[in-house]
Amino acid sequence: MRWGIVGPGGIAGQFARAVAEMPEGQVVAVSSRSIVRARAFAEQHGIARAYEGVEDFVADDGIDAVYVATPHSRHEADVLAAVGAGKHVLCEKAFALDAVQAERMVAAARGAGVFLMEAMWARFLPAYRTLRSLLDEGAIGEPLMVEADFGFRAPVDPHHRLFDLGQGGGALLDLGIYPVQLCAFVLGLPERVVADGVVGETGVDETMAALLHHAGGRLGVAKASLRTPLSCTARISGTAGWIDLPAFMHCPATLTLHRMSGVETIDASFAGEGLRFEIEEVQRCVAEGATESSIMPLDETVALMRVLDTIREHLGVVFAGGRGRP
Ligand SMILES: NC(=O)c1ccc[n+]([C@@H]2O[C@H](COP(=O)([O-])OP(=O)(O)OC[C@H]3O[C@@H](n4cnc5c(N)ncnc54)[C@H](OP(=O)(O)O)[C@@H]3O)[C@@H](O)[C@H]2O)c1
Repeated sequence: MRWGIVGPGGIAGQFARAVAEMPEGQVVAVSSRSIVRARAFAEQHGIARAYEGVEDFVADDGIDAVYVATPHSRHEADVLAAVGAGKHVLCEKAFALDAVQAERMVAAARGAGVFLMEAMWARFLPAYRTLRSLLDEGAIGEPLMVEADFGFRAPVDPHHRLFDLGQGGGALLDLGIYPVQLCAFVLGLPERVVADGVVGETGVDETMAALLHHAGGRLGVAKASLRTPLSCTARISGTAGWIDLPAFMHCPATLTLHRMSGVETIDASFAGEGLRFEIEEVQRCVAEGATESSIMPLDETVALMRVLDTIREHLGVVFAGGRGRP
């Protein structure tokens, strides 16, 4: 697959390194707001073509799929541009600013008949695949509770995308999405959501905690912070035991299974770049003619955005151009 990258920042570099590890893929083009930065990234990663802006980039016939690695506020525009040009798309998490944008992006991809997926790389890692098998075989009985958190202390910088409301900053969209999607991965979508948090001077949620009420009296507890170092772990408790995901809960190298019969640590380590696994999924799906992944389906992505919207309403965070508290 011939990939093009839009947004040559931090995660884009990891993506380029991951594709370089894979025989079936190649990054052939990169787009930046600045041709200087596009060329520098292209040179660093051995990419043939550099573009300023997305218009000429998406018109490049040599690109099969676009990886959208811009800030959350740009995801909708970049995805719509790529999909409109008939490209398959892998779009970074959180997928959009809100569910309204996410619905438009999904409708456009379905209308164009191209592949689209939220880059929820955690779900494709060996740890999450093992977790799915353990849950399916009833290793901990019926799962009843998921507790997960992801947080670190970053300096408040109003210009950094994490603290910039205009770029869709905040703990929830950047970090909270991981605990929230884990709750959905294990328990399904929640029926009710309550949340509270701390909104900082720049208007973004710096710390948040949400309680997700799932059918059958099952609960998810999700926390995230840009100002408080959290354990970055997860625990999934069931009727017959529990599974611990050590730090970092979105990409752990082991799982620990606790049961009456004893404690077992399961290796889930991998070599190389972790983004490789989601890229393999995109390439496999496209090769098979599928327009979405069953592991990170588009309806779930949109539903997760609705959960994030509800949490944001509780927090009182409103994005410019996005939907906030009604
Ligand atoms: N999967 C993961 O593990 C992971 C990790 C980190 C981040 N992410 C996700 O990846 C996305 C990008 O995060 P990142 O940490 O790579 O961000 P980043 O380092 O700030 O890079 C984003 C790039 O987007 C471009 N851009 C386009 N429009 C922009 C705008 N209006 N403001 C600022 N930059 C703009 C910038 O490049 P030019 O200025 O050259 O155009 C910038 O380098 C986010 O959705 C984030 O949640 C995922």
